[in-house]
Amino acid sequence: MPVYLQVQTEVTSTNTLLKAQAEQGAPEGTVLIAESQTAGKGRLGRHFTSPPGTGIYFSLLLRPHCTAEKSLFITTTAAVAVCEAIEQVTGLNPQIKWVNDVYLNEKKVCGILTEASVDFENGGLNWAVLGIGINIAVPEEGFPEEIRSIAGAIFDGPCPVEMRSRISAAVISRFFALYKNLGSNAFIESYRSHSFLTGRAITFSLGEETYRGVVTGISDEAHLLVRLDSGEERAFSAGEVQIHKG
Ligand code: BTN
Repeated sequence: MPVYLQVQTEVTSTNTLLKAQAEQGAPEGTVLIAESQTAGKGRLGRHFTSPPGTGIYFSLLLRPHCTAEKSLFITTTAAVAVCEAIEQVTGLNPQIKWVNDVYLNEKKVCGILTEASVDFENGGLNWAVLGIGINIAVPEEGFPEEIRSIAGAIFDGPCPVEMRSRISAAVISRFFALYKNLGSNAFIESYRSHSFLTGRAITFSLGEETYRGVVTGISDEAHLLVRLDSGEERAFSAGEVQIHKG
C-alpha cells in the first residue's frame, strides 16, 4: 500500500488534523508525523504529553473494509506492530497492556488512540485515524507529576536522534503489513505472546461496575479473559484495567 508521508514540526494533534483531511477525502495511507503536539489527545478525553525531542507522535489514515465491530482489531494490530517494531530496532521486549498500551519495564511507553467515522447505512467505517504516541526518552524536565508513576520511555538516557525515525518507519511498515489481513485475527498469537496482563490480579472497571479477578488470557476476538474472584469466567471487550501491585 502506498504511504503518503507528511512531516511537521509542531501541531495541535496529529489525530485532529488527519481527521479533517479524512473528511476532505485524503487517501488511505496518509501518515502525519509531528515533532511535538500542543494538544495531544489520549483515550477517555485525557491529554497526551507530547514534548519535542523525546517522542514520536503520528497518525495513519485508514479506510478499512470491515464492520465497526471489527475495528477493535485496528487498535490491537497497532499494538502488535509497535511491539514488533521496537523489538526489531532495539532488541528490547515490550509488552501490551490490554487493550492497546505498550509497556516496557512495567511502565507505559506508548499509547494508541483510534478515532473512526461509522457509516450507519452499512455498519462499516468511512475512515479510521490511528494515532500512536511513543516515548523514546524521558523529557529533560521529567514526565508531568500526574503521569510520573506510570509513564516510561524506551531509553533511559538521552534520545538517540536516529532512533525516532527508525522506530517510526518500522512501526508504519509493520502496521501496514499486518493491516492487509485486518479481517482475520492473524495477529492474535503475537498479541497473546506480548500480553502484559496474563496471570496478573486486576480490578476491571466497566461503567459503574468493578470486578476483581485474575487475567487468564486473550480471546480470538482480542477480548480480555478474566476469572473473577467469584469463580465466574468473563470476556470483556471494553473497560479499564488496574493492576494489583505486590
Ligand atoms: C492514550 O494512551 O490514552 C492514547 C494516546 C494516543 C496519543 C497519540 S500521539 C499521536 C496521536 N495524536 C493525538 O492527539 N493522539 C495520538
